[in-house]
Amino acid sequence: MHVRFQILVWAWCLPLMLAVTAAEEQQGEGCSAKCGAVTISNPFWFTDLETGRSCGSPRLPDFQLTCLNNSYPLLPSSVPYKHGFAILNISYGERSLHVIDLGKLQLLHDEPNNFNSCLPIWNTSAKLGRPFKISPVNQELILYNCTEKAAAAARREKELVQAKAMRCVNTSNAFVRAGVPYDPTGSYSGYALEDCAPIVLPVLPSGETNASHYERLIQSGFLLKWELPPPGK
Ligand SMILES: *[C@@H]1O[C@H](CO)[C@@H](O)[C@H](O)[C@H]1NC(C)=O
Ligand SMILES: *[C@@H]1O[C@H](CO)[C@@H](O)[C@H](O)[C@H]1NC(C)=O
Ligand SMILES: *[C@@H]1O[C@H](CO)[C@@H](O)[C@H](O)[C@H]1NC(C)=O
Ligand SMILES: *[C@@H]1O[C@H](CO)[C@@H](O)[C@H](O)[C@H]1NC(C)=O
Ligand SMILES: *[C@@H]1O[C@H](CO)[C@@H](O)[C@H](O)[C@H]1NC(C)=O
Ligand SMILES: *[C@@H]1O[C@H](CO)[C@@H](O)[C@H](O)[C@H]1NC(C)=O
Repeated sequence: MHVRFQILVWAWCLPLMLAVTAAEEQQGEGCSAKCGAVTISNPFWFTDLETGRSCGSPRLPDFQLTCLNNSYPLLPSSVPYKHGFAILNISYGERSLHVIDLGKLQLLHDEPNNFNSCLPIWNTSAKLGRPFKISPVNQELILYNCTEKAAAAARREKELVQAKAMRCVNTSNAFVRAGVPYDPTGSYSGYALEDCAPIVLPVLPSGETNASHYERLIQSGFLLKWELPPPGK
């Protein structure tokens, strides 16, 4: 009876003991771990899916990353069920991240005529968690999804390039504009086209930014900045 009670108590306490160990690990001097070629340390953190151990401080949920297939860290989208951002590099000194919007990458990979049952495509800025901002060093690419009538007018605009393979849009009626300066208000009102729905995404400026190279520009990614929340929050 007595022995049984001890086993019971031990079994009951085991999860607690494990939890304490995990908490001690988290309180340690942050952590520095590699995911692919990227070093993850404060304020970023992730949980190793195999060992269940947290690396870093789970105090900041916005900074939780997933290490995908041990090959690259993923910053999740703040919009549920939307593709997040693959992280190519982190500069802790400049608080910047070089990332690729995986949702926009998907746009390029899918069958061109696969656009009948599609969900709306989000602007990149709308998928960012609170601490993250698009760095003003980027330029913007605007993809316009036009109605058939508006497309006729858009075709006459010299600086617009007709889209190639792109998911969810009829490429005959879709156009790309490059080299748009970053607009902190996010409205890009100077670039509105009647009856054309705009999708705005940042790209890194490279030499003369040319809309014809929009696929390469999207694949090269862009820079995000982050701000830390005030302590105690
Ligand atoms: C996981 O990584 C390995 C080696 O880097 C690669 O061969 C494999 O294709 C990757 N799997 C997925 C699902 O990305
Ligand atoms: C990552 O960023 C660091 C610091 O900014 C830089 O020295 C390094 O070359 C970058 N690596 C890659 C793969 O971009
Ligand atoms: C693109 O425009 C067409 C026609 O205006 C519309 O049916 C379609 O849903 C739009 N696609 C996206 C992804 O917004
Ligand atoms: C795409 O748009 C073109 C031009 O407006 C039209 O002729 C074609 O039928 C459209 N394709 C589909 C699959 O709706
Ligand atoms: C994307 O941003 C543009 C410019 O601010 C805006 O007009 C458009 O409605 C946005 N699209 C979505 C799906 O929110
Ligand atoms: C953009 O690139 C295309 C194809 O590479 C080229 O034909 C065109 O002249 C370039 N436009 C500018 C403004 O450089």
